[in-house]
Amino acid sequence: MKVLVIGGGGREHAMAWKLAASARVQCVYVAPGNAGTALDRRLVNLPITDLVALRDWALAEQIALTVVGPEAPLAAGVVDDFRAHGLRIFGPTRAAAQLESSKAFSKAFMQRHGIPTAAHQTFSDPALAHAYVEAQGAPIVVKADGLAAGKGVVVAMTLAEAHEAIDFMLLDNRLGVVHNAQGARVVIEEFLQGEEASFMVVCRDQQAVALATSQDHKRLLDGDQGPNTGGMGAYSPAPVVTPQVHARAMREVIMPTLRGMAADGIPYTGFLYAGLMVSPNGHIKTLEFNCRMGDPETQPILLRLKSDLLELLWAATDPQTSLANIELQWDRRSALGVVLAAHGYPLSPRSGDAIRGLPEPGGLDAEAMVFHAGTRLEGDKPVTQGGRVLCVTALGDPLRQARQRAYDIAEGIQFDGMQMRTDIGHRAL
Ligand code: AMP
Ligand code: GLY
Repeated sequence: MKVLVIGGGGREHAMAWKLAASARVQCVYVAPGNAGTALDRRLVNLPITDLVALRDWALAEQIALTVVGPEAPLAAGVVDDFRAHGLRIFGPTRAAAQLESSKAFSKAFMQRHGIPTAAHQTFSDPALAHAYVEAQGAPIVVKADGLAAGKGVVVAMTLAEAHEAIDFMLLDNRLGVVHNAQGARVVIEEFLQGEEASFMVVCRDQQAVALATSQDHKRLLDGDQGPNTGGMGAYSPAPVVTPQVHARAMREVIMPTLRGMAADGIPYTGFLYAGLMVSPNGHIKTLEFNCRMGDPETQPILLRLKSDLLELLWAATDPQTSLANIELQWDRRSALGVVLAAHGYPLSPRSGDAIRGLPEPGGLDAEAMVFHAGTRLEGDKPVTQGGRVLCVTALGDPLRQARQRAYDIAEGIQFDGMQMRTDIGHRAL
């Protein structure tokens, strides 16, 4: 069968690479893809980003299954449209994707269904928002309501930072947030302490299969310093998710969410990603939902997945197949991915820098993979194209060995202005 992956980042490279390994897959198209997917002979890049044109192409090509990588096409309703035309696609509908696309929606949803999360209030009037943070005090967290490519959250350690965040989210919109129908809004919430984990499941309606756990590194610089980014590295599994925490996450967050969505008349199908804060005594609160897999978490997670991804997503899009008996097989070793980011990332990433020292395609053993993200081919030479450029991912046991391998490979790769954290995995070592 022919399958289509929508997106062009590191997550989509990893998904396409894994789907292509399935015996049932003849070809994986990636729209629009990147230099890494262009260089893999089993993958074909498709330079279509318009969703209607993509749907017409998928109909003409008889695409058997479409998998959506990023949130923007989901929030734009790509699943509703493909399904309305009889195409098989894995992901939430536009209404269900509000769990990610509107912080105000997801906070109200969690409150209504008793899902543990930080106390909060939503504001569109800056004066009321300013008064609220004055009353609450710092530290406090200010979040833009709409999609902001991972940059719409300010963890304000002082009141001054909180006031500034309110103004630039509600008044200037310097972040370029995609506002929801209600216009500019912010969610202001209680600051939580603990350790974060990324908890992802594959689900359909009220059934869920958990993927391996992981932990992301959101800050740009070593020691968790500097601005928030989409993620500078990740590893799997995350030891903070003990079997007890895992059971709690399923019982207190994932299952009530799927039941709540069904009860509200918007059943959820797709990847569901709960960002969890795990307190020292093992209690959990939900920081956010994403309606897709994480990037870069996907890269180490899929390097560890031994089961067939196509079979999993095929079952998840077949109403006749129960997900209850699916047992995924994972490599027992850890996997760790280090992001190499462009000059100027996250605020003003530069494009067009030549990338040198990439391993030949197929030049690495099965224990490591350089996933491409912001790259494109200029002639036959890969150059940078935006924020996160590559994610060098390796397996190893213990985690220290995965980390050593990933950094050994990363050391051979260069481009001007390259940014890389040197401490990925530090919480688990
Ligand atoms: P979010 O997009 O909501 O996950 O927020 C991005 C990042 O901000 C999270 O990964 C956390 O590191 C941090 N964050 C979000 N909400 C809180 C909170 N209530 N308390 C502390 N840190 C938070
Ligand atoms: N790495 C965090 C995310 O994908 O949202």
